[in-house]
Amino acid sequence: MKISNRTANFQYAIRDVLTVAAEVEAQGHKLIKLNIGDPIKYHFKTPKLLTEPLKYAEDENYNFYADSQGILEFREAIASYENRKHKVGVTADKVVVTAGVSEGIQMTFMSFTNPGDQVLIPGIHYPSYSGNATIFDVDPQYYKTVVSDCFYPDSDHIRSLMNEKTKMVILNTPNNPTGSVYPEKVIKEIVDIVGEYDACIISDETYDELLLDEGLKHTATATIAKDVPVITYNGFSKVFLAPGWRLGYAYLQDPDNKISDPWDGLNKLTRLRLCASTPLQKAGTEALKADQSTYLPETIKTLKERRDLMYNRLENMEGISVYKPEAAFYIFPVLDLEQFTWKSDKEFVFDFLRKKHVLTVFGSGFGPFGENGFRMVYLPTLEKIEEAMNKLEDLLNENRMK
Ligand SMILES: Cc1ncc(COP(=O)(O)O)c(C=O)c1O
Repeated sequence: MKISNRTANFQYAIRDVLTVAAEVEAQGHKLIKLNIGDPIKYHFKTPKLLTEPLKYAEDENYNFYADSQGILEFREAIASYENRKHKVGVTADKVVVTAGVSEGIQMTFMSFTNPGDQVLIPGIHYPSYSGNATIFDVDPQYYKTVVSDCFYPDSDHIRSLMNEKTKMVILNTPNNPTGSVYPEKVIKEIVDIVGEYDACIISDETYDELLLDEGLKHTATATIAKDVPVITYNGFSKVFLAPGWRLGYAYLQDPDNKISDPWDGLNKLTRLRLCASTPLQKAGTEALKADQSTYLPETIKTLKERRDLMYNRLENMEGISVYKPEAAFYIFPVLDLEQFTWKSDKEFVFDFLRKKHVLTVFGSGFGPFGENGFRMVYLPTLEKIEEAMNKLEDLLNENRMK
């Protein structure tokens, strides 16, 4: 039997590099892994404000099937948490609990698009968006985000791509893989453009509280888009350091009911998987009411030190352009391939892996505007980062065009 076309065409670069990494490890080499956005793999600890209520949830027998939309108490806690943080004015009936943001993205594509519809995606993006476009036969249109412009979305390019087939425009701020935090002005320009069409904004704000620099502000798209429909995603994987929990949520802002039908559809789809994990929802409820200052400032301080080290090293390497990430834990340097022997970002990444045993992800796996770039996480210790940067410097020098 043949594999379905939608599955055959589907790619996921972040995990695709692992096959080659496994070969290198099998030859007995120890890798420095800078490839995956999972803080737990780098010895960050899930905070007690999540793990302790989980024990209580088990004791209280929170092991039943919950409501498909999510436990009401949890949705209420999510609404007040989001309102506290961003003053978005969301209510519990407009919240859907998902098994991670990933499930929310997938259900949104499922309910909002038909084959042939168009979705606008950042030109360098978290691969789930393009992966879902492939699976659901949607036409992905990639808008420009480039290193020389802090990887901000190019609103003129967005305008030129919009048409009557456009169903959704995806924004991701703070951004994976670039660490860019979109200014309010840029978001407002995009909101105004989308408002001219029968389309909505999907705003992935997974990293909203991992801002690394003083005075930096996250702008929640829902606070800007007064009459343009927005679905916002967030979850527990990054800010709460619990990626394995698979707990996330989506919330709707749509005062004129422009997207109430597909939103209700999304809600209906949640029944297909019965519910998100019940004990985790109970623990999540308590965590959202707790004081995050017990772990978040320390986490940010650690990330900032590691970001600074990696950025400062990269900035001094000839043949690389690098933007200083303002949030999250990713950096996306861009190679001037004319100065090196490699023909592509992929060739460079596999060379780095095979020759220096450092695992990164090739930029073209994050979209067409990612060509010549590569993504690294700055989650490892300062010593490991230093070691990896020494190896990178050596590799660049060994492969310079004469
Ligand atoms: C921008 C972005 N959105 C969504 C996700 C997936 O999050 P979750 O673990 O909640 O499914 C990730 C994971 O890396 C991400 O970087």
